[in-house]
This record gives sequence, C-alpha cells and structure tokens, in this order.
Amino acid sequence: MKYLIANWKANKTIDEADQWLDSFLKKDFSLVTKKVQIIICPPHPFLLPLKNRVKKYPFIKISAQDVSFFKKGQYTGEVSVENLSSLADYVIIGHSERRYYFAETERILFQKFSLAKKNNIEPIFCLRDGTDLLPARVRFIAYEPVYAIGTGDNVPVNQVLRLKKVLTLTKEVKFIYGGSVNENNASSYLREKEIDGLLVGTASLDEKKFYAIVTSCA
Ligand code: PGA
Repeated sequence: MKYLIANWKANKTIDEADQWLDSFLKKDFSLVTKKVQIIICPPHPFLLPLKNRVKKYPFIKISAQDVSFFKKGQYTGEVSVENLSSLADYVIIGHSERRYYFAETERILFQKFSLAKKNNIEPIFCLRDGTDLLPARVRFIAYEPVYAIGTGDNVPVNQVLRLKKVLTLTKEVKFIYGGSVNENNASSYLREKEIDGLLVGTASLDEKKFYAIVTSCA
C-alpha cells in the first residue's frame, strides 16, 4: 500500500476545491484502488465538504494540515482535536513551514501529537532531517528536507533511503518522502519497497498532475 498525500497548504477557494474534486473523482482508479491510500489535506474550512464528497471512495481519506496544541476551550481562532473529530482521519504535524513561520517547538509538536493520538486522528509527523526528534508511537513519518520543499530540488531516492536507515524505524512505521515530488519523479520513489508514500505540495494543486502520480502506482 502506498500513501499519496496532497497537501494544498493555504491555497484554493472553495469553488476551486470543488472543481479539483469534480475532475479528480471522474478519473479511473480501477487499477489502483487496492494499492493506494489517497489522503487529501485541504485548508480547515473545506474539511467537511470534502469529507462528504469522498465518502463513497474508501481509498480516499481526509487530513487536516495542522491542529491546536490546546485540547479545547478559550483559544479564539484555534482548531482543536475535538473540532476535527469525525472530520479528519489524519493530521499533519510538524511541517517545516509550521516550525519556521509559527515557531512551533518540539514541545508543542509532541503535545499536538499526543492530543491527536488520544482522539483517534492519525498524525503524519514531518521531519526535516535526522536530528528532529520523533514521538514514541509514531506511525507515519514524512521526511521533508527544507531545501527540497517547493524548490524543484527533490532529494534523490538513494539519499532518502540513507536517511531512513539512520532512523532505524520499526516495521509498522510508514516512511513517506516529500519535497518537490511531481508526476515525472514520483515513480522513482514509489518503486522502492522501503518508501511507503509521498507528500505532495505544489504538484497536488493540479488534479491532473496528482492523478498522474496516483497512477504511477498501477
Ligand atoms: P512541494 O511541497 O511538493 O511543493 O515541495 C511539499 C510539502 O511541503 O509538503
């Protein structure tokens, strides 16, 4: 099973999100339904409409891009795990953009991780390199070096595999790569048994490109 994650970040209007889905859901998935888990990560306001639209497609799941480190309560503007429950199957935690622009520390990230786990939302925990700490009980790791994100400078597959070795993960942990993945380079990662999936930013904004990545698993 390969995990293909579309991280839209802070892009798209609701109409654009709908158009993306209109076109994406019309495509032929018959060759990949048993081989892939597609995970779409829209901005928070689109979680519910997207969740409703993909209900009929068991191979498509929905993820939040972030969650508050407060459980719930008087934190205006925050979105808590309680708010996300039944809306998101997964949540991205520790993306380098959160660490950098929002000064999220390891303490904050571990708190988010623990809240998500307790509320049955599976964290996809991002690592910038081998020095970032990993929470215990992590099941999904996305390796995303900062220099590779949005730059076109994707990390060659042999280097990705080398980092995985350094991490000495147990078998249950899914190891995902992200950073300038596109429809041309995706298969170089997906053909490796040791790489369980891809976290795709820029190329996921275009449903044709993302579909091309999905079908490279066929
Ligand atoms: P990118 O983003 O595919 O645009 O490099 C990946 C990510 O940040 O998740």
